[in-house]
Amino acid sequence: MKIKLATAQDIDAWMALVEQVRDVFPGLETAQAMEEHRATVLRFMETSSAICAMGDGQMAGILLFSREASELCFLAVDPNYRRQHIAQKLVASMLTQMEEGKDISLITYQENDPNGQAARAFYKRLGFSEGRLTKGFGHPAQEFILKR
Ligand SMILES: CC(C)(COP(=O)(O)OP(=O)(O)OC[C@H]1O[C@@H](n2cnc3c(N)ncnc32)[C@H](O)[C@@H]1OP(=O)(O)O)[C@@H](O)C(=O)NCCC(=O)NCCS
Repeated sequence: MKIKLATAQDIDAWMALVEQVRDVFPGLETAQAMEEHRATVLRFMETSSAICAMGDGQMAGILLFSREASELCFLAVDPNYRRQHIAQKLVASMLTQMEEGKDISLITYQENDPNGQAARAFYKRLGFSEGRLTKGFGHPAQEFILKR
């Protein structure tokens, strides 16, 4: 498994993975939303803020982050590649890019959301703690914070 910064050359493979998981991400429901997301991903790629995991020439996991906001913005692993610590490696790679000593935040699902079971267990396992309840794309959400 190779973890690397993704570039514009990776956009089609990246979006193919997004397509596979879009059902569990509020805000990706329409074709237009997917087009806008593609443009967003390209901007993250241009600023070296998109990390991917490649296995057998296939994109197995993807992560977007913001250095400025010290925020993990998007994370997904191909269902066929889950529970192989790929997400854990993506987050470890992101941490090397973030300013030291600064807390890292993200927005994920609330506790009662079946779509959020894996994500919430994952973030807690990595040491994130639960923060304020909020909304993401109009959907109930919760902030998680990694204290550093
Ligand atoms: C959440 C997600 C990214 C985890 O990816 P992953 O590569 O399978 O996670 P890892 O293998 O790195 O998991 C590391 C640890 O997290 C915990 N964990 C991960 N998935 C879990 C699950 N489904 N149930 C319970 N614990 C889980 C485990 O402790 C795991 O270690 P272990 O397998 O040795 O027990 C993946 O399930 C996913 O893409 N889900 C759909 C999209 C999503 O929810 N993204 C996050 C939105 S904010």
